[in-house]
Amino acid sequence: MEYRILGPLEAFDAERRLSLGGTKQRAVLALLLLHRNEALTRDVMVDELWGGQPPPTASKVLQNCISALRKELPGGTETLRTLGGAYELRLGPDELDRDRFERLLAEGRAALEAEDHAEASDLIRQALGLWRGSPLSEFTYEQFARDEIARLEELFVAAVEDRIEADLALGRHAELVPELESLVSRHPLRERLRGQLMLALYRSGRQAEALDTYRAARRTLAAELGIEPGRALHDLERAILAQDSALDTSPTAARGGDARPGRLAAAPLVGRDDELALLDAGLQDALAGRGRLFVVVGGPGTGKTSLGDELASRAKARGATILWGRGWHGGGAPPFWPWIQAFRDAGATLPEASTDDEAGKFRFFEAVTERVRAAAAEHPLLLVIDDLQAADTDSRLLIEFLASELPEMAVLVLALAREDTPGLDELARHATRTLRLELL
Ligand SMILES: Nc1ncnc2c1ncn2[C@@H]1O[C@H](COP(=O)(O)OP(=O)(O)OP(=O)(O)O)[C@@H](O)[C@H]1O
Ligand SMILES: [Mg+2]
Repeated sequence: MEYRILGPLEAFDAERRLSLGGTKQRAVLALLLLHRNEALTRDVMVDELWGGQPPPTASKVLQNCISALRKELPGGTETLRTLGGAYELRLGPDELDRDRFERLLAEGRAALEAEDHAEASDLIRQALGLWRGSPLSEFTYEQFARDEIARLEELFVAAVEDRIEADLALGRHAELVPELESLVSRHPLRERLRGQLMLALYRSGRQAEALDTYRAARRTLAAELGIEPGRALHDLERAILAQDSALDTSPTAARGGDARPGRLAAAPLVGRDDELALLDAGLQDALAGRGRLFVVVGGPGTGKTSLGDELASRAKARGATILWGRGWHGGGAPPFWPWIQAFRDAGATLPEASTDDEAGKFRFFEAVTERVRAAAAEHPLLLVIDDLQAADTDSRLLIEFLASELPEMAVLVLALAREDTPGLDELARHATRTLRLELL
């Protein structure tokens, strides 16, 4: 199946375009797509669809829409499942255009970071090519779609900026000028676009216009927001005035594949396709800002660490930062040892706080959570806590505490534990999924 929301709502089964019915039925599908692979209760759906003022017939209308969709969707009740009083639309990783967009964009950004500009430009161009107009355009004014539409529109412009950064590095400044001029007039407050236009003009031998662009930016920012241009734009103006040679970077040739980030897992994984598919879906959610906790439980040597390793290389290739801490069974480790190691991977230390009493511990947990939130705002994170059976109890409690804050963060937490880990049931209650591994 191919579902499309980056424009008007559409669904295709191979070449066949599905008939999606009237406005309400289309809204039901859109809502389920925005929460794909998640059980939505009927009450929540009615609330979302009728904005808190449902008519008495709402439940019936919803039920009719669900039945009609099931007739049309391949797989019927398998694809659109009933779970108690809830509905869930099952989707594979690449069936929704939004998910493909975010995956390609993350891969493009990872290539950009690795300075593989040709690859970055190509991947981000592919990602942007999936857009057919305003996302879910017919639902712009619907409560249930508003936040996601705003998020996607922001992501679109940021992706265009990333693509232009790659193109500038490839020496395409002359052809970028007209595009940047039109972008700046549509998004006059985005300083990154202004800076890119200044650089493209300067490199095209149009220094005076580059400086005019800075002055125009300054006027607009002062008039609209009462602020001065930010540091980056200001530094760029100074560099242009000084004809700084650092501005003339020659186009970098496309680098070979080995410049891509992403360590390969130590040895190829055999089997574990189902587990990887689940973790991969969780990773996609996390990259999109909907954090998740997954717990993997199994006896010694069942491949928990190997699975974590494989996920880490996938996450890294999509631009995530990997933080990895493990419990130490030998005794003598300080409290929160796995967390200390994980934070070290981020070049950070744990917050200073006394955890002697309950109140102190709570403050410490909150401070850690805020640091994770701040780090994830810069780069998505994969946080692996391995060998949990050998960690202190408070380290496990901290995972549970963080888990309750995760849904708003671009963080995937993976806890790897032997079966005899104390408190596993409690941890599992906080997890999106708990996977159990048997020896292969
Ligand atoms: N799916 C797999 N495919 C290939 N090799 C595997 C797989 N799972 C495990 N292995 C191999 O088995 C060994 C044990 O795996 P691993 O260390 O990941 O287990 P573990 O569950 O982390 O064990 P422990 O709980 O003792 O830490 C490793 O050498 C690993 O390479
Ligand atoms: Mg292990």
